Amino acid sequence: MSNIYVHKIRLSGGVGRGYTWCMKKALRKKEPTIVPERSLRVLFVASECAPYAKCGGLGDVVASLPKALRKLGVDVRVLIPLYGTISRETFGLVEEPSCLVNCGGGEVNGCGVWGGVADGDVPMWFIEHDRYFDRGGIYDDNGVEFGDNAFRFGLLCMAAEQVCRDRQWIPDVVHSHDWPTAIMPVLLDAWRKAGAPLGWAGSVLTIHNQAYQGYSHASALGYLGLGPDYFTPEILEAWGQVNLLKGGIVMADAITTVSPSYAKEILTEAGGNGLAEYMQARQRDFEGILNGADYGVWDPETDRLIPANYRADSLIGKGQCKQELQSQMGLQQDGVVPLFGIVSRLTSQKGMGLMRAALPLALDSLNMQLVVLGTGEAADEEFFRWLAAAYPGRVGVTIGYSDDLAHRIQAGADFFLMPSLFEPCGLAQMYALRYAALPVVHATGGLEDTIEQYNPGEGTGTGFKFYTPDAPTFQETMAWAVQTWETRPSHITQMREQAMKVRFDWEMSANRYLDIYRRVALKRVGWQ
Ligand code: ADP
Ligand code: GLC
Repeated sequence: MSNIYVHKIRLSGGVGRGYTWCMKKALRKKEPTIVPERSLRVLFVASECAPYAKCGGLGDVVASLPKALRKLGVDVRVLIPLYGTISRETFGLVEEPSCLVNCGGGEVNGCGVWGGVADGDVPMWFIEHDRYFDRGGIYDDNGVEFGDNAFRFGLLCMAAEQVCRDRQWIPDVVHSHDWPTAIMPVLLDAWRKAGAPLGWAGSVLTIHNQAYQGYSHASALGYLGLGPDYFTPEILEAWGQVNLLKGGIVMADAITTVSPSYAKEILTEAGGNGLAEYMQARQRDFEGILNGADYGVWDPETDRLIPANYRADSLIGKGQCKQELQSQMGLQQDGVVPLFGIVSRLTSQKGMGLMRAALPLALDSLNMQLVVLGTGEAADEEFFRWLAAAYPGRVGVTIGYSDDLAHRIQAGADFFLMPSLFEPCGLAQMYALRYAALPVVHATGGLEDTIEQYNPGEGTGTGFKFYTPDAPTFQETMAWAVQTWETRPSHITQMREQAMKVRFDWEMSANRYLDIYRRVALKRVGWQ
């Protein structure tokens, strides 16, 4: 049975029912039934999706993977919260019939439901619940995490069941992302036992960052309608609290993470953030699939957010982008000095410790400029403000979030700094490659997988990697990049050409997700 082609199989039932339900029926009848074909149905449930709501790469992936899956014929839809920051008018959202979500303990929550269509014709649903979602931040208020996150995102997951049921659109697979929606596989298990239609869906959990696990007080379980049998060390309990990510890891039919190297790292004690034993137990159902980059959004040949377009065989436009970036960020106008760029969440993961120690020394000893765009921990923001004040005309800093400036930095910078202590995948360095801003990175996780080390003998490679994450090594690597810039311009030209040609298209990765969806859908009907 394993060679059955589930993606476009002919099944009985059809309208409004999931594949798995149809397969069960077909299996019970033990006879082939002919009905119109329909595609595999996949529901993404997530806390971010660009351009509606984004803090980092998760938002990019939840926007671009469904787009790629739709090209493969998958009927994929995306459900996210309607945060107060999402403008209904700008995105042309349309109000749909609201839904009543039955939470545990008899609590019923009325939620608004809004529909929209994202880039790539991806249908979107937005859950409106002012008390939970009409707030400035997605996860926190200026760095202070909301205390009720398990309730907020729990409601989102529970609303998924009701939205699908009300619309008679029952997915074959529910794909959840990171701790905010990691409870989904646990809820599906409970719903299956209770006979709810969505319970028959297979579950896939993607770990974008295992360091964040979503700890909450055990009282969240009652709200989620989960009994004490789920609050065990084998499932959700950890240190007397609920660990949402752990629950998802234990219960999901399949688990993925976002690069092959990070997949290896989180299986080890050292890299497993306390969850290595649970990851190891699920090793057979776990794989690392490299994220793709959306070149419809990130391409200097067509990007409308940058001052001038350019291509691999002519970088004249890049020179103009550099000039305009220098002027916008208050830097000395100098086409010769190498300009380094940073676009990042400002947090320890991104190598803030290394940057604090190494950047002043690098600026003291090297002829270089630096532009920074970021937001995050108060002390890190303060450091960069200080750096800009200490090196006027050489360092330009914007503390905040700006998609426009992120594109302009990629286009104007000569080098892109990403000294992350760990990096599950990293998208910013992929964009940097496409924009010919050569990445200077710590060789970890997805950075190791996507950047080819500069080879001074041949002039090949796409960036400068260092293997020991300490400040002197990071500083030496920046010096190496500057020295290459100054003394071997032909190598820089060659590397830029090579970098711009590297493609991380979604198509291949989306096909791998499709294989997983088929597998878990089959597993749910007992065919595998
Ligand atoms: P992570 O998801 O860990 O933050 P990624 O490299 O995967 O790292 O993705 C970061 C994404 O967030 C990129 O699209 C990057 O351009 C964007 N980004 C990060 N910080 C900012 C910011 N301050 N303003 C605009 N975009 C940002
Ligand atoms: C997380 C990771 C980042 C990854 C992104 C998208 O935020 O930190 O490395 O690229 O998710 O998967």
